[in-house]
Amino acid sequence: MGHKVTGLDLDERKVNSLQSGKLHFYEPGLNDLLLKHLNLENITFTTDTQKAIKENDVIFLCVGTPQSPNGSADLQYVKNAASSIGSFMNQYKVVVNKSTVPVGTAELVSNIIKENQPSEVPFDVVSNPEFLREGSALKDALHPDRVVIGSTSKKATLIMKELYKEVTCPIIETNPKSAELIKYAANSFLALKISFMNELARLCDELEININDVSKGIGLDHRIGPHFLQAGIGYGGSCFPKDVQALLHTSRKNGINLSILERASEVNRTQATYFMEKLTNTVGDLNGKTIAVLGLAFKANTDDTRESPSLTVVDYLAKHNCNVKVHDPVVRLQSSAYIQYSTIEETVADADAIIICTDWDEYRNIQWHKLKDLMKQPLLFDGRNLINRDDIIGLGYHYISIANF
Ligand code: UDX
Repeated sequence: MGHKVTGLDLDERKVNSLQSGKLHFYEPGLNDLLLKHLNLENITFTTDTQKAIKENDVIFLCVGTPQSPNGSADLQYVKNAASSIGSFMNQYKVVVNKSTVPVGTAELVSNIIKENQPSEVPFDVVSNPEFLREGSALKDALHPDRVVIGSTSKKATLIMKELYKEVTCPIIETNPKSAELIKYAANSFLALKISFMNELARLCDELEININDVSKGIGLDHRIGPHFLQAGIGYGGSCFPKDVQALLHTSRKNGINLSILERASEVNRTQATYFMEKLTNTVGDLNGKTIAVLGLAFKANTDDTRESPSLTVVDYLAKHNCNVKVHDPVVRLQSSAYIQYSTIEETVADADAIIICTDWDEYRNIQWHKLKDLMKQPLLFDGRNLINRDDIIGLGYHYISIANF
């Protein structure tokens, strides 16, 4: 789009890898885009904080805001970045908070910058939350549903609108505090939708009702919408669990009980174990049983395992003294809790049961008739409702799901 971009990070290994055209994580399409812009010399990567700050007019803060032990967002990286920006600011800059940060952080960043400026230089801080999903980051970032600009400065708002001029979607202009809350409210609402379906699925399991039909039936109502109604073993990842806790922390601190969100979080905390109880009810004593787990990533198309419900499943199995064999198309993790295999066939060999934990397409397309004979018994637990129930039962499997009737 005609901008010159500098990627600044303190981690030399990441910077070197990106500068040489290698992405250090898995994200479909992103490596090609990186190579394209490196070739066009539109982007460079550096660890030189001073140079990166001095040479750029707009500075995006894209640092992590991990969860603190009390549930709040840990702002140490935001604060460190803000103090560097203050120290090296040489002329007017727009400082953009892209990181997911609690209400009031734009003001905090502004104060830190001011405190660290050797002499007064004008600047504005804008809150511009990012809504992209891992696995579809490019599509989401380049074709967003909306852009939110939280700003108290007309000048900064105009600069931001100029940056986004090729993006065709509504732009919400608001103040920084509202923009900050919009991000938490969006993620929390989506988490709430998922937890509602997961809790409803428990009722459906009792009544032998297909939760997927319920999902379709309500999702076609445009007031509800079809997305994020897929029941499963719970939401994971680096955002939903952390952002729900951070919003709950903010509410408690302000004397407000977000009781619906508290409950949504609790449903999520217990969803994977709810599913594992079905395993115990079916298999009986798990001690010494061999269980094949398909999928470690918190969802398909990513190598991210942060807060992955698969890890809760693996943990449960390891605690019950199972031999845990795992497979994932892209995640490679060492753990004493399991042995990882590179093929699905090796993973399911001699298994007493298979548990699908991640919605990878590869698992949708498994030739189940071939796997059956490799297992001790044809028992399939589908934690993502990926498989057609009638087909798999037709092949002689005992099939247990999240109300996929
Ligand atoms: C999320 C938000 O969607 C995104 O807007 C924000 O910027 C970052 O957080 P992400 O964590 O990458 O994105 O993944 P997402 O696709 O939202 O899935 C989160 C979790 O919810 C996954 O574990 C997924 O499996 C689960 N999920 C999602 C369901 O269980 N059911 C659904 O219907 C949708």
